[in-house]
Amino acid sequence: MKATVQPLKEITLTGKGFSLQPSVQSERLLELKFDAETVQAFLAGVAEWPVQALEYKSMLRFRVAQVLNQLCGGQLQSLLVNTLADRASGALLITPEGLDCVEQAEDMVKFTTAVAHLFGRSNYDAMSGQYYARFVVQNDDNSDSYLRQAHRVMELHNDGTFVEQDTDYVLMLKIDEQNMEGGNSLLLHLDDWADLNRFYNDPMAHRVMRWAAPPSKNTAKDVYHAVFDVDRSGKPIMSYIDQFVQPANYDEGNWLTDLSESLETSPSILSVRVPVGSFLLINNHFWLHGRDKFVAHQGLRRELMRQRGYFTHAKTLRHPKQ
Ligand SMILES: [Fe+2]
Repeated sequence: MKATVQPLKEITLTGKGFSLQPSVQSERLLELKFDAETVQAFLAGVAEWPVQALEYKSMLRFRVAQVLNQLCGGQLQSLLVNTLADRASGALLITPEGLDCVEQAEDMVKFTTAVAHLFGRSNYDAMSGQYYARFVVQNDDNSDSYLRQAHRVMELHNDGTFVEQDTDYVLMLKIDEQNMEGGNSLLLHLDDWADLNRFYNDPMAHRVMRWAAPPSKNTAKDVYHAVFDVDRSGKPIMSYIDQFVQPANYDEGNWLTDLSESLETSPSILSVRVPVGSFLLINNHFWLHGRDKFVAHQGLRRELMRQRGYFTHAKTLRHPKQ
């Protein structure tokens, strides 16, 4: 199935403090750039609050969001809400100009916090004990999942599959990168996946399965749900990750493996290079994400930050009853 992609060309615009245009990879992925002046004004406007203040007082995350929105002429909030709710798009590569080296990591966290809290609220992250998590990928790693392992592909998945909190959006920031070759972010929109209907129409798509994570995730409890669900307009959405689904039997295991092979070989996967200081923001229900492998290098270092959370704006809510 290939869904009709609505033309997004008209969405190209320049607002106060930012510009927006479709990316070269896909019209679904929009590039949002904040000019350096706006970024500096934002940092000055929130200088009284270190990241620790945002950690301790949740309400301040919304105040820094307000500061950024006001600097953008009040236009940013609706732009973010509309884009994330739009099934034809739902993804942004965001660049705050001038924030591009690891020494500015705290400022990057503030900026991403402001963006996320214009349309949602970031969840508690059990891996870090905060509303965001910073983590490092290095050449050598002995962790218990593929998150920090450099030399292999991290397969396409949704986040939040093994937690009870709603995970409507995923924000992934590149804080640092040294001696890196490869490692692009991989993205796949469900409506670009040729086998979507084949899998969605299979009874197995709606069978409740068990999801359990390894110890590093700090989630003790298993959760139960099907791979597929529907959004408020009746279109398929997914909650899937190959590493943490625990098939109950032969049929489930083989159906999941077929699904995985189909996803990984889709010609519609986008390979996106995210520069230091930039971040991807996606609707987690109809975009899958992953990461390409890196070339081995002893000095390889990559630092990332993620925020996952739920939508708080009526337009972006998943079910009408919410
Ligand atoms: Fe992920």
